[in-house]
Amino acid sequence: MTSAFDLVVRDAQVATASDTFSSDVGIKDGRIVQLGLSLPAGEREIDAAGRTVTPGGVDGHCHLDQVIPPPTRMADDFLSGTRSAACGGTTTVIPFAAQQKGESLRSAVDEYHRRASGRASVDYGFHLIVTDPTPDVVKRELPQLIAEGYTSFKIYMTYEDLRLNDRQILEVLTAARKYGAMTMIHAENSECIGWLTQNLLDEGLVAPRYHGASRPMLVEREATHRAISLAELVDVPVLIVHVSGSEAVEQIQWARHRGINILAETCPQYLFLTAEDLGIDDTYEGAKCVCSPPPRNASNQKAIWRGLVDGTFTIVSSDHAPFSFDDEQGKHPNGEKVAFPYIPNGIPGLETRLPLLYTEGVLEGRISLNRFVELTSTNPAKMYGLHPRKGTIAIGADADLVIWDRRDLTLTNGMLHHAVDYTPYEGRRLGAWPGCTISRGEVVWDGQHFTGTAGTGQFLKRGLPSITRQAARDFDPNNK
Ligand code: URP
Ligand code: ZN
Ligand code: ZN
Repeated sequence: MTSAFDLVVRDAQVATASDTFSSDVGIKDGRIVQLGLSLPAGEREIDAAGRTVTPGGVDGHCHLDQVIPPPTRMADDFLSGTRSAACGGTTTVIPFAAQQKGESLRSAVDEYHRRASGRASVDYGFHLIVTDPTPDVVKRELPQLIAEGYTSFKIYMTYEDLRLNDRQILEVLTAARKYGAMTMIHAENSECIGWLTQNLLDEGLVAPRYHGASRPMLVEREATHRAISLAELVDVPVLIVHVSGSEAVEQIQWARHRGINILAETCPQYLFLTAEDLGIDDTYEGAKCVCSPPPRNASNQKAIWRGLVDGTFTIVSSDHAPFSFDDEQGKHPNGEKVAFPYIPNGIPGLETRLPLLYTEGVLEGRISLNRFVELTSTNPAKMYGLHPRKGTIAIGADADLVIWDRRDLTLTNGMLHHAVDYTPYEGRRLGAWPGCTISRGEVVWDGQHFTGTAGTGQFLKRGLPSITRQAARDFDPNNK
């Protein structure tokens, strides 16, 4: 007689964003079909006795195989990036389909589907990156693509080739409001960064640590405030991404006290790195930690941790931006120490996001297990229109699960499955790592080996997030 279950995860301590309870998890055809004690035997069984089981991680901000001007190139494509995600407990990734200036959004989306095709081993969606908001893009392409499941997009207030001016931001936010999409905003003041950078270069100050000096907290604070004001003017919820310190946190809290609907993301680099990791002298190693905004000082790091505890942050994403160090396409091309403005921005973190936060957050008692699940899985699924299919352990949800092993280990890049040649977290002590990752009912990481298959990751056509769908309804009550 065939079993009602393809797989039963037995005797789990299941943790969701709201509850922790003992249960077996019965899985059929890639979905959770039953929760309860003493479920009948499955075709296959995994004993989770004594272990915590959480929903698979949803990484709502990571960059894979993104088109960048040569010679720089991302080390991870969809093959290595999703493999690395699986081995670190993440079962859904949402990287970006980035529009080049002059390109249509449709052509960008087609290009990124080609890049992902047959290569992903966990499920994926795409955010759009809007860099050229022509009337055709804003009025025709965006609504079409939102309806097709690309329900979020990122815009930049800095980087010459990506940034929008305030007027363009207002146009794009208006489309987000009308059609119910989520806008992610990279908030740093471009002109201030340009001016500070020039001053530093004129003084011959070129080492990686000056990357931090060229993007002080003030430039992030100003842009965060401006992004909030633009969102208030249009009356649409937005997400401020990769918040790095206290002054941006204050702006977000100020906005919420005024009743403005602002969501906030932070990333491991602001929880686990500081400005010192960019170098305390002119050594080039600091290039490994060059990302924007840069890691801040210890008191800003504390403010970010406080924001995890007090509810300021909605999500924690990796912002995985995978550039190798000793690589002609990476941060130290042909062994050359390039001046800080030419070091590719971004650091790897897809695989380490969950184990680092589980160790330093949950095991160190800073956040509850349920808050960990909320920040890393449930809220990103909700914000990006994937809940309740993703981001929870419930009947009907995809069987995306992480079974946690408590073990003392020292993190080395050799343990990781990305294609980047370093991790900024080399040598950190960890107290837990996924002992098993299950993606739609299939084991993709068994605690020792990647067991997934390229091409089994499915593209996720995403719904409208409820928070922005409501804003669209308020805008036009006939808009269902
Ligand atoms: O430095 C970073 N964060 N690089 C990735 C691109 C971005 O702005 O998120
Ligand atoms: Zn960004
Ligand atoms: Zn990013």
